[in-house]
Amino acid sequence: MKHITCIEDLRQLHKRRVPKAFFDYADRGSYTEDTLRANHDDLQQIKFRQRILVDVSKRDLSTTILGEPAKMPLILAPVGLLGMQHGDGEIHACRAAQAAGIPFTQSTMSICSIEDIAAAVDKPFWFQLYVMKDRGFVKALIERVIAAKCSALFLTVDLPVNGQRHIDQKNGLSVPPRLTAKTVLDVMMRPTWAWRILNGKRKTFANIDGHLPGFGGTTLAEWTQSQFDQTVSWKDVEWIRSIFPGKLVLKGILDPDDAREALKTGADGIVVSNHGGRQLDGAPSTISALPKVADAIGGQKEILFDSGVRTGQDMFRALALGANACMIGRPFLYGLGAGGEAGVAKVIDILKRELDTTMVLTGIDDVKKIDRNAIAGWPEFANS
Ligand code: FNR
Repeated sequence: MKHITCIEDLRQLHKRRVPKAFFDYADRGSYTEDTLRANHDDLQQIKFRQRILVDVSKRDLSTTILGEPAKMPLILAPVGLLGMQHGDGEIHACRAAQAAGIPFTQSTMSICSIEDIAAAVDKPFWFQLYVMKDRGFVKALIERVIAAKCSALFLTVDLPVNGQRHIDQKNGLSVPPRLTAKTVLDVMMRPTWAWRILNGKRKTFANIDGHLPGFGGTTLAEWTQSQFDQTVSWKDVEWIRSIFPGKLVLKGILDPDDAREALKTGADGIVVSNHGGRQLDGAPSTISALPKVADAIGGQKEILFDSGVRTGQDMFRALALGANACMIGRPFLYGLGAGGEAGVAKVIDILKRELDTTMVLTGIDDVKKIDRNAIAGWPEFANS
């Protein structure tokens, strides 16, 4: 890992080490990928105020997120199928996060179960919920989350249906991988990946196995379509609030009207997110949506931010426009596919150093002091 200096280096390694269908699943977005690109491009439009001759010899990157101390304002976002990027991927990622003093969020669509992770780590982690049609299953899942002492629950609200991801369909993405001449050849060319997966504890969706119907020859997208509940509404937020005693966060808010609606619920926070450009293609980039959402929330709830963060500079930009902390998806996936726990640790370290350097060069000694005053303004985004 010595020659790895940025997230893109890890992306390239991931691409070499993991079969194409799983690399593409991690890397790509929905439809034309306009929103995926806008997430990145719009972030780069925000310029910093370079400040000089400020004593920044002592710096503090620590903060609190949802009432819990964190060594920096960063969270590993919920990402499905980590255990297909690297055997026991969820455990590797959670361990790296906890060692770095930041939160890890487990996806409903994980390969390792909630109980697998709880048994493998010392501290509480967070859990992300997709609401399925079978509400008995959802209630039982939340009870397992409580039993595992997860301290926060993220209700993802931007995926009543899978945004069509052409590449996943073309690759016929399924779990475990469907064996065709092409996939067998791909796996044979990546023996280290195959070895790690074979040594992983699980090969399918452990939170779901035995509770909901299996894939039965369908693709991931088809399975999602048949199981996810499209009737979910604001009423269900209150239902979940009444069951889960810890912090509750609504993940996937982009519109100020929805942010105002969220204020009426018992949720503790929101995530400004477009699912990393994997859902509604043509939706605004998250950074262009953030200022208006932050104004609507007016400090009444915690605001987390994701989609497009690839550097500590990007984290700084989101913090300046009103986020309390950032979540990352793909960056830590690249690290995981490239090198397991060490790869994820490297990602966190890279972002931390970049954020720290940006603070020095903008004359800010405490991450909690980053606000709109720290940037040279932001453009009137065409789509905001
Ligand atoms: C995701 N994301 C996601 N979100 C969620 O709530 N539950 C999930 O199971 C998943 N699964 C998932 C898989 C993959 C491969 C990716 C890339 C993303 C979305 C994720 O939590 C986060 O919102 C985005 O990844 C943020 O964008 P970046 O950091 O990837 O640009």
